[in-house]
Amino acid sequence: MTGMTAKNGMTAKNGTFLEVADLRAGYGDGTVLDGVDLAVAEGEICAVLGPNGAGKTTLLRALCGMVRTEGTVRLDGRALPRRRPEAIARLGVAHVPEGRGTFVPLTVEENLRLGAYTRRDRQGVAADLDRMYGHFPVLRERRTQAAGSLSGGEQQMVAIGRALMSRPRLVLLDEPSLGLAPLITRQLFQIVRTINEEERTTVILVEQNAHLTLEFAHRAHVLEAGRIVLSGSADEVRADEQMARAYLGIEV
Ligand SMILES: Nc1ncnc2c1ncn2[C@@H]1O[C@H](COP(=O)(O)OP(=O)(O)O)[C@@H](O)[C@H]1O
Ligand SMILES: [Mg+2]
Repeated sequence: MTGMTAKNGMTAKNGTFLEVADLRAGYGDGTVLDGVDLAVAEGEICAVLGPNGAGKTTLLRALCGMVRTEGTVRLDGRALPRRRPEAIARLGVAHVPEGRGTFVPLTVEENLRLGAYTRRDRQGVAADLDRMYGHFPVLRERRTQAAGSLSGGEQQMVAIGRALMSRPRLVLLDEPSLGLAPLITRQLFQIVRTINEEERTTVILVEQNAHLTLEFAHRAHVLEAGRIVLSGSADEVRADEQMARAYLGIEV
């Protein structure tokens, strides 16, 4: 056996970093995710695309233990505990929620330090803070300002920087482009790509903006009504006719 074959036909190698199989999740008695299969390789940027209400946010919440789930989620071969967000965070999963979750009255630096609150290695934290300012130079300039006084793009940088301060192995980004101008989104995605390349951090990037996202992601999955309907390399997904019609506004 070379590994599992997901329903969508994508073969995951034994080295799959994040393995999601037949994942079901929802709120109360309702089902939102209806059997999701997903395989993410270590070090890749994996896009999850899909229309509003498809279940993208719920998928990220399921991965970090915030909602009721059934099915399998394994990180590096190890099953993630259910409904225990702190335990999952300690295993190296960092979540940047929809709407960012920056603490607006706190300064930029206080927000970044919050991401490292469980760490005891002071020197390591100081070095990582410096590394974050290297990735986001504008945040160094603004480090003593209240996060709430920053632009939307800068606040998104704070949210991502804070997540990275926990030295995660997997970062879950929920629609970082929301409310940002295309140029700002492009700059932000470029930084995410640089961090991914330099630090080998695996990223799941949830977005509605398929066009831009596919420029920066290695692989992509399209979620519709709680199911994955298309998976492939970013090029394959871009080339898919149905995808082109539905999300990219291209006539084929
Ligand atoms: N906290 C919640 N309680 C109940 N239903 C929810 C909640 N959050 C989302 N939903 C429902 O789950 C479905 C998927 O939502 P969501 O995961 O936010 O989709 P997306 O992020 O793709 O827009 C929607 O029908 C939405 O109304
Ligand atoms: Mg959402």
